[in-house]
Amino acid sequence: MTVKKKSTREDVLHMVVHDMKGPLAVVMANLDLLQTRRLSRGNRALLGIASRECETLHRMIQDLLETGRMKRGETELNLSMVDLGGFLCAFCEKVAPMAAERSVRLELRHECTAGPIALDAHLLERMLFNLVLNALRHARENGRIVIGTEDGSGEPAVKLYVSDDGPGIAEKDRQRIFELYHRGESPERNRERNDGLEGGPGRDRYGSGSGIGLAFCRLAAERHGGRIGVESVPGRGSTFVVHLPTGLVPSGSGLFD
Ligand SMILES: Nc1ncnc2c1ncn2[C@@H]1O[C@H](COP(=O)(O)OP(=O)(O)O)[C@@H](O)[C@H]1O
Ligand SMILES: [Mg+2]
Repeated sequence: MTVKKKSTREDVLHMVVHDMKGPLAVVMANLDLLQTRRLSRGNRALLGIASRECETLHRMIQDLLETGRMKRGETELNLSMVDLGGFLCAFCEKVAPMAAERSVRLELRHECTAGPIALDAHLLERMLFNLVLNALRHARENGRIVIGTEDGSGEPAVKLYVSDDGPGIAEKDRQRIFELYHRGESPERNRERNDGLEGGPGRDRYGSGSGIGLAFCRLAAERHGGRIGVESVPGRGSTFVVHLPTGLVPSGSGLFD
């Protein structure tokens, strides 16, 4: 006899969020179709905004679903050998237009000496994307973001970091920001509040504003057997550091199959 497990609130939420993907995909496909039509400049700009907001929503849904799967231990890592230098170069090219739009200088400092390491490249990219969106959101106008790597100290590991020159994070928030849905206090959030925008859709282009991103990053780092932390000097900036082990082995490598 099979015993049917009672659905928890979280299961129901997961199903609802999952089902949002269908209609959103239809909206995105239709927006893509419209992009191919002849449009006035004004309408093309409006279409661009709509597409970008849909992409943000799509990312939020993906992160929320993946966070749920990781919490339940259902995520299988898809490991492949990743050359961090090449990976980060390609990543920086992708996010460079967003940095330019915000007049933020993006620097890459690849200093770790490890060769290619086994990682889930997809999870790694989404983790970095969340960290960089946060950094873009908080960096000063005309400020600077550094994406870098270093050799880890102690165990064979690499450190991957994203640092910004924004307002930093209060000591009391430094642990809690990695909890799902937790958002810290920041001048940027106070601005949203004053503008009556907090909690509304499409508040800015640099983050979801829902407290999902860092929980996702923490779970993704832990799923790799690593961890994430933050160093911050209020008023001077924040550095998010992801410690990743170098000893994982991709399945199909022949070593443990
Ligand atoms: N680079 C940063 N500088 C300052 N505060 C940050 C930074 N990144 C994250 N935070 C704080 O951590 C909180 C949680 O971040 P996150 O989980 O990505 O959620 P969200 O970006 O949706 O608010 C943010 O609300 C903000 O208070
Ligand atoms: Mg975020």
